[in-house]
Amino acid sequence: MTGSDSGFIELDGVEKVFEVRRKTGFLKRERRQVRAVDSISFRVESGEMVGYIGPNGAGKSTTIKTLTGILTPSAGRVRVAGIDPSRDRVRLAHRIGVVFGQRTTLWWDLPLIDSYRLMHRMYRIPDARYRENLDRLVGLLGLAD
Ligand SMILES: Nc1ncnc2c1ncn2[C@@H]1O[C@H](COP(=O)(O)OP(=O)(O)OP(=O)(O)O)[C@@H](O)[C@H]1O
Ligand SMILES: [Mg+2]
Repeated sequence: MTGSDSGFIELDGVEKVFEVRRKTGFLKRERRQVRAVDSISFRVESGEMVGYIGPNGAGKSTTIKTLTGILTPSAGRVRVAGIDPSRDRVRLAHRIGVVFGQRTTLWWDLPLIDSYRLMHRMYRIPDARYRENLDRLVGLLGLAD
């Protein structure tokens, strides 16, 4: 993990401005800026559980996408697990999990076990731990058949 003086998630003055082009007539385009995230700063320590709430369009998804490295902030500083998400997205992906609403982390056209095997490798879960979790869930949910 990161040092004890830094949080697991750190945002400092983070902004995200989208440039939007809208057709306003034949060959006419209007350029507009949408300030989706406006100078956000907070930190979340390892093991802390937090909720990030706000009305529709407040910038929640944009913030999460910035934390995962899908989007690059227009300004400010982001660190997750000591990593700059937009610069090192792939390395960060090994350390985090993200579920967006109405989407599943399982591949719909694959047998369930294939998704689990992929996660096992992707997150480098120790074999014994993987087995133990799998057995527990298979038993609990009656999935063996
Ligand atoms: N790719 C984009 N291009 C232009 N504008 C965008 C883009 N993504 C988001 N926005 C705008 O940025 C603002 C914040 O959107 P965002 O999706 O982050 O809000 P949210 O808090 O997740 O909302 P909801 O509760 O509806 O999911 C909104 O005004 C949205 O229209
Ligand atoms: Mg959203």
